[in-house]
Amino acid sequence: VCGIENILITSGSQQALDLIGKVMVNPGDRILVEEPTYVGALQAWRPYEPAYIPVPVDNAGMRTDLLESVLRETHPKLIYALPNFQNPSGVTLSNKRRVELIDLAERYGVPIIEDDPYGQLRYEGDHECSLFALDAMKSKTSGSVLYLSTFSKTLCPGLRVGWVVGPESVIRQMVQAKQGMDLHTSTFVQMLAYETARGDFLDQHIQQLRRAYAVQRDFMLALMADHFPPGIKWTRPAGGLFIWVTLPRDMNSTTLLKKALEHRVAFVPGNEFYPCGGGENTFRLNFSYPSMEDIEMGIRRLAAVLTQEMQLIAQT
Ligand SMILES: Cc1ncc(COP(=O)(O)O)c(C=O)c1O
Repeated sequence: VCGIENILITSGSQQALDLIGKVMVNPGDRILVEEPTYVGALQAWRPYEPAYIPVPVDNAGMRTDLLESVLRETHPKLIYALPNFQNPSGVTLSNKRRVELIDLAERYGVPIIEDDPYGQLRYEGDHECSLFALDAMKSKTSGSVLYLSTFSKTLCPGLRVGWVVGPESVIRQMVQAKQGMDLHTSTFVQMLAYETARGDFLDQHIQQLRRAYAVQRDFMLALMADHFPPGIKWTRPAGGLFIWVTLPRDMNSTTLLKKALEHRVAFVPGNEFYPCGGGENTFRLNFSYPSMEDIEMGIRRLAAVLTQEMQLIAQT
């Protein structure tokens, strides 16, 4: 059961991540993260000087088959999980792995931070149960997940309204830390969010986003399949905003970006999302922001850059 004492309204999820750093992370603490993971969380926690323990993701999300040995060997303070349409890779944690993650976190006594800004933007398949709900269903352990979400992806990122749900003791500490930062999230923007969410506008708006983004995702994926040269792999996200591209091992997406920019097309190099280095041959594409025309032009240009680059590599 979740009462008002279990909820804190924050200035976006980003502030919640920083508050977690403030109240839970001390220098040298280990945080187990997915690899790749949300770069904004790494940035938020960097001032608190944690050490990151990466666990790779595949098409079914965090590799829970590797988790137990990592937990046993490293004893992390926290697990940071992005179960739905992960930023940056777009992959979703399968239900089986959600249960495994909750079980293992319980066994090793490690709290989970569940960061879920994209959960409502699902374009196919069934909604997966949150880690928070799975944990709450296990009466013994209930209280070891902090759930974060936000209006940024469904309503407006500029509003800066998000929320954290968790055990009262942790929420109380976060409230105190937040009071020192900004006293409270602007009541004016909270009223705007409330008025928008209490009728059916927001639900209808989310339906509309789902329809529009699904079309954009499918269009981008189809263009990639038609135009990208062989040897390149990418994810097929069931929701969210991102497609994750993996190039052959000898290619570097940061170098490639310079060439892509000369052709007036951009992407986010993957290396930034790897807390301990790696991922130089990966990059993130976004399909929700560009128009259909820009998606077509962008993918065609990118495909041309990739083809050229791969031909050059083949010649050397
Ligand atoms: C995984 C994840 N967490 C948190 C955030 C921050 O969202 P907000 O705008 O609510 O601060 C983002 C934004 O991109 C995100 O992708």
